[in-house]
Amino acid sequence: MSLRSCSLRLVQRVRLPRHCAYATQVHPHHLVTKPSAFGQPTLKSHPHLVKPGELTPGIPASEYERRRRQLVEGLPHGSLVVCVAGQVKYMSAAIFYKFRQASDFWYLTGFEEPDSALILEKTGTPRGFRMLLYSTGKDPSKEKWDGAFTRFQDVLGLFGADEARPLESFADDLRAFAARAEHVYADVPAHHGRRAGSGRGLLRYLSRQQPRAARSDPDAYLDAIAASKRRPLAPLVGALRSVKSTHEQEVMKASADISARAHAKTMRFAQPGLSEADLQAHFEYMCTRSGVQRPAYVPVVASGENALVIHYTRNDHLLRDGELVLLDAGGEYNGYASDITRTFPVNGTFTPPQRELYAALLATQKALVKECAVARGHSLDSLHRRSVSLLRAELGKIGLPCEGTVLERVLYPHYLTHPIGIDLHESGTVERGAPLKEGMVITIEPGKHE
Ligand code: GLY
Ligand code: MN
Repeated sequence: MSLRSCSLRLVQRVRLPRHCAYATQVHPHHLVTKPSAFGQPTLKSHPHLVKPGELTPGIPASEYERRRRQLVEGLPHGSLVVCVAGQVKYMSAAIFYKFRQASDFWYLTGFEEPDSALILEKTGTPRGFRMLLYSTGKDPSKEKWDGAFTRFQDVLGLFGADEARPLESFADDLRAFAARAEHVYADVPAHHGRRAGSGRGLLRYLSRQQPRAARSDPDAYLDAIAASKRRPLAPLVGALRSVKSTHEQEVMKASADISARAHAKTMRFAQPGLSEADLQAHFEYMCTRSGVQRPAYVPVVASGENALVIHYTRNDHLLRDGELVLLDAGGEYNGYASDITRTFPVNGTFTPPQRELYAALLATQKALVKECAVARGHSLDSLHRRSVSLLRAELGKIGLPCEGTVLERVLYPHYLTHPIGIDLHESGTVERGAPLKEGMVITIEPGKHE
């Protein structure tokens, strides 16, 4: 047994004589594992993170129920919803990346364990549906390696499932449910980055259940559903996700505030001679200390002309005196992304031309943020068009006229905006030409890489 699996409270710290401050002394009979009861933070295990009534930090259990109800209410009689969790992804062999739950599954359940699945069957009951949640359950041999999994009885109590079942039952259950349903809403999960041909957990299990499927086929579970009954789920969940509740807006504000503070601290930290990686590390350190679980995207720390590469992420050049550095970075906090880009002088002082250009962009951005009101009737497309004309006007004022298409071809080749939420780019289901609705959250990023 490794020391990592010891309960900390059973490890005694003893004062050593002379100059050594402390050493750790472990008594063999104290080497017991300390399984926490749940596979994710709960009010009971993490009262500093989860408040009464919340299922995940900032989001009440009742809101997850509302999401499921709204989804099912919009479906015809005889509908079934199937949503599978994310899978652990591997860098190589058994070396895994930190797990992140699949966004739609998390939105509908708040359940954070991999190798899980959800079935919602539309019913005529007052609740309107029956909810089955499939998961690993307690497994001491697995928990020694991976930490606690939530017990089935807690899946019922905490997550509102009518039935909590082992993942092993999922394939057979799905076949039976799908046989009697008329419409089955399901999506193929994205499995980018998974080890080729060696799926684990849910995937491996499902592949075993499906003789047709290759071991690496991530769509294996869809075989249980007749093709004529399959309907896409993502657009329906996407439409719900596009409008943020008050609770979601609060979490998103907190997420953006944390990233904004980390940006400000990182600006003060910057100086010639440091590397771009130093700034990345400083930003991520500030975010992590404020509770951010992961970067919402790979940060861009682009000094000098590196900023001309829109997704520059090598972040391995030195910061030079007199240059600008672009920091495009945001954290994911309690399930919600933030996205901030700022460009600032490495040595703390803009040269006059740098200041003029910065001011032109800032004026454009501020004007566009003001236009983000439902009353203005904008769509993403009309906001983008407005950004092009505003930016053209601002650049003209400082003696940089951009005739014809040069602005959009050379200086501003990307789109102004994208919806943001659980995913950094929640664009999939938002029509670019449709009017924006109250509760939508979008970014405003005009010509951020000049
Ligand atoms: N600012 C990062 C992105 O939108 O891709
Ligand atoms: Mn963005």
